[in-house]
Amino acid sequence: HGVFTYDPGFLSTASCSSNITFIDGDEGLLYYRGYPIEQLAKNCDFLEVSYLLMHGELPDATQKKSFTDSIAQHTMLHDQLTNVFRGFRRDAHPMAVMVGVVGSMSAFYHDAMDVKDPQSRKISAYRLLSKVPTIAAWSYKYNIGEPFMYPQNRFNFAENFMHMMFATPCETYEPNPILAKAFDRILILHADHEQNASTSTVRLAGSSGANPFACIAAGIASLWGPAHGGANEATLNMLEEIGDVSRIGEFIKRAKDKSDSFRLMGFGHRVYRNMDPRAAIMRETCHQVLDELGLHDDPMFKLALKLEQIALEDEYFVSRRLYPNVDFYSGIVMRAMGIPNSMFTAIFALARTAGWVSQWNEMMSDPEAKIGRPRQLYTGSTRRDFVPIDQR
Ligand code: CMC
Repeated sequence: HGVFTYDPGFLSTASCSSNITFIDGDEGLLYYRGYPIEQLAKNCDFLEVSYLLMHGELPDATQKKSFTDSIAQHTMLHDQLTNVFRGFRRDAHPMAVMVGVVGSMSAFYHDAMDVKDPQSRKISAYRLLSKVPTIAAWSYKYNIGEPFMYPQNRFNFAENFMHMMFATPCETYEPNPILAKAFDRILILHADHEQNASTSTVRLAGSSGANPFACIAAGIASLWGPAHGGANEATLNMLEEIGDVSRIGEFIKRAKDKSDSFRLMGFGHRVYRNMDPRAAIMRETCHQVLDELGLHDDPMFKLALKLEQIALEDEYFVSRRLYPNVDFYSGIVMRAMGIPNSMFTAIFALARTAGWVSQWNEMMSDPEAKIGRPRQLYTGSTRRDFVPIDQR
């Protein structure tokens, strides 16, 4: 009692024990359930990886089929949820809509709210993994004033999302297999990342016994910030602001200037002080997509690649080990696929839902888990006596 460790930003605090994801930031290693991310990104699809995160083992063929069918079965939203969408302003940010709509699912699925029951937790986790993509795609459709597109189960998970984003009732959408694969890879790379801000938020919210839809809505809120999931959107906004290769120098100068709050978005990471392994994989995918679409000479992509080159060579960035992070490249890939900047973080959220529900379930299954309750160092006034209002 009374002895605390002061650790703002939790730089040296392990908030839980977990057997889901392993990161070694110095070595640049990332494993899900022991499997290196490179092997999973190369050999699996997102649902297989989600199964691994949620259940601890890779599925065999029968388990994979049954899991894929269950997820497909839950992709529809309750029709009344469309009323929740319609309560938002037309131009609401997709993340604002997602925080609201995902939270509102608490009011729709009372049948599986017993967080102490493993079966109930599993149904909620499956519902979230299936429905968050539909919510994300519909938040975009709502923005641009197009009708909501219902999920189509003949597509795989990535293709289905692209269909819900890009098809209209008058025009079907045939996903380009290279782009669908690239998109699926973005999802795999973002599926989990141990105790980052949003996952810690989900755990903290869940530690009180709150329902999973409310907990995931809290995670989405935390993810939204530009220092976390908002970085991919912020990267593209920054590239648009820079506008031309000739202005890069000016922005690099600002990024180095400690009196200027500007930071180069898409560079640096709290944990990786080496190249983020996800960034290395995404970099390769990024070049494949730019080749496939013939975009290497597009001014925006030229600008991004030039910025990457400068940051990899400049003494300031090299000495601080500020490498381009996964969101630098995933932002470029999504831009090339025609996905608007405002949807990038929403897509991150749908991928991270796999990790969030796995981490939440791990915590809820732990008989020793306690309510999260950090302490503080109080820096306010010492005891003083009340002063009546006319004497203040
Ligand atoms: N541009 C310029 N300087 C930077 C940047 C940057 N992007 N990132 C860090 N620095 C400098 C920082 O000023 C400090 O310099 P000095 O030692 O001279 O004071 C040094 O590098 C160490 O930085 P830090 O602030 O101690 O690092 P942190 O661990 O607190 O912050 C970060 C990590 C990711 C918030 C930060 O690098 C950043 O703001 N990056 C840009 C935003 C971004 O891309 N975020 C996405 C992270 S990956 C996705 C995710 O996990 O959600």
